[in-house]
Amino acid sequence: MMFTMWSHLLLFNAGGALASALQRRPMSTDGFDSKCASVASQLQIEHATVYFSEYITAGTNLSLPDNNVTCAIPNQVVPKDICRLALYVATSNRSGINMEAWLPSNWTGRFLSTGNGGLGGCIQYEDLAYGSSLGFATVGANNGHNGTSGGAFNGNSDILEDFAYRSIHTGVVVGKQITQNFYGSAHKKSYYLGCSTGGRQGFKSAQDFPEDFDGIVAGAPAIAFDNLTSYSGHFYPIVGTANSSTFVPTNLWSTLIHSDIMKQCDMLDNYADGILENPSMCNYTASGLLCGSSSNSSDCLTQEQVNTVNQVFSPTLTSDGSLVYPRMQPGSEALASLIIYNGAPWVYTTEFFRYAIYNDSTWDPATMNSTDYENAARINPFNIQTWKGDLSAVQNRGAKILHWHGQMDSIISSENSPRYYEHVSETMGKSPEELDDFYRFFRVSGTEHCGMGDGASSIGQDISSYASLDPSENILMAMVDWIEKGVAPETVTGTRFKNGTQSLGVEYKRAHCRYPRSNRYKGQGDPNSVENWECVE
Ligand SMILES: *[C@@H]1O[C@H](CO)[C@@H](O)[C@H](O)[C@H]1NC(C)=O
Ligand SMILES: *[C@@H]1O[C@H](CO)[C@@H](O)[C@H](O)[C@H]1NC(C)=O
Ligand SMILES: *[C@@H]1O[C@H](CO)[C@@H](O)[C@H](O)[C@H]1NC(C)=O
Ligand SMILES: *[C@@H]1O[C@H](CO)[C@@H](O)[C@H](O)[C@H]1NC(C)=O
Ligand SMILES: *[C@@H]1O[C@H](CO)[C@@H](O)[C@H](O)[C@H]1NC(C)=O
Ligand SMILES: *[C@@H]1O[C@H](CO)[C@@H](O)[C@H](O)[C@H]1NC(C)=O
Ligand SMILES: *[C@@H]1O[C@H](CO)[C@@H](O)[C@H](O)[C@H]1NC(C)=O
Ligand SMILES: *[C@@H]1O[C@H](CO)[C@@H](O)[C@H](O)[C@H]1NC(C)=O
Ligand SMILES: *[C@@H]1O[C@H](CO)[C@@H](O)[C@H](O)[C@H]1NC(C)=O
Ligand SMILES: *[C@@H]1O[C@H](CO)[C@@H](O)[C@H](O)[C@H]1NC(C)=O
Ligand SMILES: *[C@@H]1O[C@H](CO)[C@@H](O)[C@H](O)[C@H]1NC(C)=O
Ligand SMILES: *[C@@H]1O[C@H](CO)[C@@H](O)[C@H](O)[C@H]1NC(C)=O
Repeated sequence: MMFTMWSHLLLFNAGGALASALQRRPMSTDGFDSKCASVASQLQIEHATVYFSEYITAGTNLSLPDNNVTCAIPNQVVPKDICRLALYVATSNRSGINMEAWLPSNWTGRFLSTGNGGLGGCIQYEDLAYGSSLGFATVGANNGHNGTSGGAFNGNSDILEDFAYRSIHTGVVVGKQITQNFYGSAHKKSYYLGCSTGGRQGFKSAQDFPEDFDGIVAGAPAIAFDNLTSYSGHFYPIVGTANSSTFVPTNLWSTLIHSDIMKQCDMLDNYADGILENPSMCNYTASGLLCGSSSNSSDCLTQEQVNTVNQVFSPTLTSDGSLVYPRMQPGSEALASLIIYNGAPWVYTTEFFRYAIYNDSTWDPATMNSTDYENAARINPFNIQTWKGDLSAVQNRGAKILHWHGQMDSIISSENSPRYYEHVSETMGKSPEELDDFYRFFRVSGTEHCGMGDGASSIGQDISSYASLDPSENILMAMVDWIEKGVAPETVTGTRFKNGTQSLGVEYKRAHCRYPRSNRYKGQGDPNSVENWECVE
């Protein structure tokens, strides 16, 4: 329905001068640079203004002076020869997207859309570099506003609408047209790669724009978005400011509490390596850390602090007990304590409630309570919640979804992903075996929010988490194999680099299991060998 609503805004001139120009000039590396130079003036897209097109050779360290400073990407190395095209597309009379298309000279016939993060506002140049280096005609857009802040939603709901769904969809419709015009033939298969807000955008496409992609790779998705925003904000009233008696100093989270969690739960996967393969199994309680009469405050907790920790690891509920969002999974506390239990409000919650929910720039995140959770879920602007459980449109057209979530995620609880999977299973009346046909979900242990972490976190989800192009070790190439060869991934193998540093070489690999299975050490043999682990129900 939304497709119909917006497709009339985007009218293209598909034939004409450009098509005949392309026919006169055969595809060749020689002609690529001049073809690139001329495309900007030839492209005709309704409601669009093309800024420029430029040929960029492999190895260029591209300077991005116009990119908003808060996006913190002043440069991007371009790994393969591309034609870079930048344009603006109006999405309403008071909003629009800035987007880029990176068109590789060695095109595979594949199209790829990248996504965004947080409440931004930032073209993910590193993802444009990654996709184009693998031969995808790759697009990225700014989600309707520049910079990381959600302040732009203030007083302009069209910008919020771009953020909720319209930026990605518009970028895809325009991007496919650009691809066809530039190469002189339509893309063969269309892919999506995103994490966090980008993961939500992938599911939004699956739920509302199933024609947009053949293969969607969605990591750590920010789905149940209104409720996630409540969850993210609910820690501050629990933890309190740094001077309050409920507050737990960050160093205690990363040492005392983290060790206690490992003591209680690390062996649940039959191997003590500081990594929880399935934190959902860990029913952690901090009560054992309560100080005795003579204890020293750096190796125990007061009763109030014990309560804080236990509340942090409890689900977010409304005052009448309905679930808003699952608990934070144990294992992520070292980083979570720095960014989310740090005695300060979570900025995205503050901005979202002020500018998207209440239109009240004085709303105080310290007062957040159940009424706010309910208001956010009820107002749910532009259905940003992204929680439809019926994915039959995706299944019916043969499209596929690979969903993954890091099990050390300190921002978006990894327990929300199985909740969505179960919701789809229930809504569609399908068992996991039946869902496997088009929708597979992987729990990626030892992985922080979208990457990094203590374990085998490199699965090819982005250019910096790249270990191999082998589909068994690269989730994007696994999707390509599934779509183009019909080979679906059974596991996704992650790589752990020594000291977490790629240049130091591989420490070990681990094959992450497909939900609802979880990974377990067999009990003998080298635990650094993939084959000494198994996926168990
Ligand atoms: C790219 O250029 C920037 C700015 O000059 C520099 O800081 C950065 O190290 C360069 N990157 C590479 C990989 O050369
Ligand atoms: C957003 O940034 C782009 C450059 O990346 C710039 O062309 C555009 O004017 C900016 N838009 C606004 C509203 O500042
Ligand atoms: C702007 O408004 C006019 C008149 O209502 C409409 O025809 C046009 O499509 C709008 N432009 C965009 C980009 O929405
Ligand atoms: C072009 O891509 C193909 C694989 O798609 C690869 O085999 C070939 O080496 C690439 N050529 C160049 C010049 O990068
Ligand atoms: C850059 O982003 C910030 C935060 O989103 C925003 O306040 C600012 O206006 C932006 N600057 C420009 C020049 O667009
Ligand atoms: C505690 O810290 C908050 C902000 O961090 C401050 O506003 C408040 O005045 C402090 N309270 C006391 C009693 O020091
Ligand atoms: C955790 O609690 C659940 C629910 O009470 C229970 O089914 C499960 O066995 C517990 N797990 C462990 C490892 O004790
Ligand atoms: C408290 O415990 C910490 C950590 O175990 C230790 O470094 C410190 O010396 C102890 N302080 C006292 C007063 O015992
Ligand atoms: C938002 O609040 C401003 C200032 O109070 C007001 O002018 C505006 O009409 C409000 N917008 C909406 C959509 O309620
Ligand atoms: C939440 O706080 C507001 C005031 O900030 C109050 O009006 C409301 O009753 C509270 N809701 C609950 C459930 O306590
Ligand atoms: C969101 O929270 C509301 C309560 O505020 C709850 O009724 C609803 O089921 C939740 N939805 C999702 C998708 O989590
Ligand atoms: C190992 O990683 C830490 C931080 O992640 C860093 O400070 C240290 O220099 C690294 N060591 C080596 C040998 O790279």
